[in-house]
Amino acid sequence: MEERGNIDLNFVQRQFLACTPINKLRWNNFRNDTTAEIIEAMTPEMQRKILEKTVNTELVKKYPMKRSYQKSFLKRLINELENHCNEVHDEMYSTYCSLVSSDDGESSTQYRHFLYNENPTCTNAITLQESVSIVSLGTTGLCTWQAGLGLAEWCMENKELLRGRKILELGCGVGLTGLAIIRSCAPKEYIFSDFHPAVLTMLCKNIHINFPTDNDSLSNCYEDESNINLKMHHNGVNIDVRCLPWENINDGSNKTACIPVDAEIILAADVLYDDSCFHSLASALNHLLATNGTYAVVAATIRNADTISKFTEILGVHDLVYHEMKLPKREHFIRTDDTPIRMMKIVNSSFTVNEDNVKL
Ligand SMILES: C[S@@+](CC[C@H](N)C(=O)[O-])C[C@H]1O[C@@H](n2cnc3c(N)ncnc32)[C@H](O)[C@@H]1O
Repeated sequence: MEERGNIDLNFVQRQFLACTPINKLRWNNFRNDTTAEIIEAMTPEMQRKILEKTVNTELVKKYPMKRSYQKSFLKRLINELENHCNEVHDEMYSTYCSLVSSDDGESSTQYRHFLYNENPTCTNAITLQESVSIVSLGTTGLCTWQAGLGLAEWCMENKELLRGRKILELGCGVGLTGLAIIRSCAPKEYIFSDFHPAVLTMLCKNIHINFPTDNDSLSNCYEDESNINLKMHHNGVNIDVRCLPWENINDGSNKTACIPVDAEIILAADVLYDDSCFHSLASALNHLLATNGTYAVVAATIRNADTISKFTEILGVHDLVYHEMKLPKREHFIRTDDTPIRMMKIVNSSFTVNEDNVKL
């Protein structure tokens, strides 16, 4: 009979690096051994391995995670071990003490690291600098949302649709979805876009962290208050960052020169929360989806179902139709909370009749 109390170290590591709330951490993905069984069977050597895979990884040393999170993780582990009368490894106490004593105030930004299932090693992590608060500097774009993870997941499941394509992402935030696609789905070109200067600046940092380049390429990152721009080439993919307010995409002005109307696939995650922007977003989509065969995939975090229904009604006003999509399986990324998401494919209504490729 198989022993009880097995811990899945890689699973624990993936949850820790993505900053999964401590009360939602699980020790094993596929087995239902109880916490008591796992903690009682946890040898000092296993505790050392857990430290090695979490707070003591080179990745966390180089790009530190929120210190209060690291402390809570160790505190919970130590408490569980003590409560189950198991011996606590000295290194566990010393690591916890050094985190507490080096407490010189929390930074306003943190790093999170997403290891995806295909190749769950730290060398292949997607590392993101994010804000520690969900709203900061007046934007929600400085952290990654569930819909962003869901859209990335969908893309990993549908790589063949993205291979060799020119993709434009609207409201990209700090970049998880695009970074995952560039890493794994071989698009021809990926254009990240957003309109918030702080979001675009953090996004550029994240692109450089994940796709390090020499200084020449770095000089292509222009940053000033109103215009942040980056162009680079990585692993066969042209990467572009643009400041693109939805309001400017279909306003008929000469600003449209920088609008990538030839993008073949438009992506957007968690952009359906403020209904005052819905007409400008739908109008932008109408402009971008003017060619037969182009389509948008929009993932929404469902906070208020009525708000999203409002958007789907507005689509009709802009000659667009939507199709509800099957949600991706949760396989590649750790989802750090359970807020449900909804995904839709949007196309121009005039192309639906002859378009075989409408339903995914
Ligand atoms: C909730 S965040 C989602 C970020 C990311 N897509 C994700 O899922 O993690 C919404 C993003 O949309 C951007 N955004 C909001 N209104 C916009 C507009 N009118 N034009 C362009 N971007 C906008 C914000 O700056 C922010 O980065």
